[in-house]
Amino acid sequence: MAAYHWIKVFDSEEALQNNVKPNSVFATTVKGEKILLIQHDTAFYAVQERCPHNGASMAHGFCLKDELTCPVHRFRFNVVDGKSVSGGSYALKTYPVVINQEGVFVGVKAKWWEA
Ligand code: FES
Repeated sequence: MAAYHWIKVFDSEEALQNNVKPNSVFATTVKGEKILLIQHDTAFYAVQERCPHNGASMAHGFCLKDELTCPVHRFRFNVVDGKSVSGGSYALKTYPVVINQEGVFVGVKAKWWEA
């Protein structure tokens, strides 16, 4: 099982909700990796910021319900599992999000030499 570094991205769930709104994306960096935080229904998801097709920034993409659309070639990805919903084998890397009394954390997999 993968070990994670849990990086705090917000001090509270309230701060998360104030910054990450439905149908929008919130870009940040955790442990050197650019990610996007997305709200869908009542849950929050984290995915890689760069499009797996050709590396465009998805921070300027469109998010509707559980789909994030790349602004360049319009490939669409499910924010829950990262898989393409417009065909092809491209997929976004996903990160676990944990909310607890101490804040909001995103899990970044530890490198094999750190585990
Ligand atoms: S760069 Fe995102 S779909 Fe092509």
